[in-house]
Amino acid sequence: MRIVVLTGAGMSAESGISTFRDNGGLWDQYNVEDVATPEGWARNPKLVTEFYNVRRKELLGTKPCLGHELVAKLEEKHAVTVVTQNVDNLHERAGSSYVIHLHGELMKVTSSRSPNDPRYIKTLDPEHIEVKMGDLAGDGSQLRPFIVWFGEAVPEIDRAVEECEKADMLIVIGTSLNVYPAAGLTRCVRPGTPIYLIDPKPVQWNSDVPVHHIMKGASEGMKELMKLLKIED
Ligand code: OAD
Repeated sequence: MRIVVLTGAGMSAESGISTFRDNGGLWDQYNVEDVATPEGWARNPKLVTEFYNVRRKELLGTKPCLGHELVAKLEEKHAVTVVTQNVDNLHERAGSSYVIHLHGELMKVTSSRSPNDPRYIKTLDPEHIEVKMGDLAGDGSQLRPFIVWFGEAVPEIDRAVEECEKADMLIVIGTSLNVYPAAGLTRCVRPGTPIYLIDPKPVQWNSDVPVHHIMKGASEGMKELMKLLKIED
C-alpha cells in the first residue's frame, strides 16, 4: 500500500520542540512577521539569523519520539512518503527514507539572492550551526536559513500533491491545518482513500471527506494506528 504521512509541529512536540499555535507556542513568543517573512529578513536579517541559530541549537538537543519511529516502521510493510511542514530532521533521524520538506530544513542554509538555487543550498555541519552576519553563500550574498517563509513560493508542493494523488491511505499527524498550500493536501487524495488524523485536540477538518480522528498524541496515536493496520510495534 502507498501511504502518505502529512505531519506538522505536533509530530515533534513529544521530542520537546514547541508547536506554533498551541498556548505558549512559538507564535505567542515571537512575531511571525519579524522572523518568518521576507520582509522581516529585509528589515532585520541579524534578528532572523539569531532566531534560527537558536532553533538549530534546540534541535541538536532533541531526538525522535516513538511517533517518529513508528512512522519509519511503516516502511517495513508499505511504500511510505512523509510530507512534513516541520523544518527539523527528526523523521530522517528516526529512519524514514523518503521525506518531503514543504517548509525547508533548519540544518540547511542558502543564498539570500536565489534561495532555491540548488548550487547554493548547503547542510551545516552540526559542529558549526551558528550563522553570522557576513557569512556568505556561493554567489556572494548573505547566507539565509533554508526555510520557506510566509509569502514565499513552496517549491516542493507539486511533488507532495503527486504523492497524495497516488496514495492508498493518508495519515495526518499534529497539524492545525492553518497554513496553505500544505493544508490543501488533504483534498488531493482520490475519493474513497482512507484518512486518519492523529491529534490530541479537535482540528478544524478542512475537507468534505470523512476522517477517522484518533484523539491522542503522536506516539500513542501511532501505536493505536499500527494496531488497526495490524503492524505490531
Ligand atoms: P500548529 O502549531 O499550527 O499546530 C500543531 C498541532 O499539533 C495542533 O493541532 C495541536 O493540537 C497538535 N499537537 C499538539 N501536541 C501534539 C502531540 N503531542 N501529538 C500530536 N499532535 C499534537 O503547527 P503546524 O500545523 O505544523 O510554518 O503549523 C504549520 C506551519 O505554520 C509551520 O510549518 C510553520 C508555522 O508558521 C512556517 O514557519 C513557514
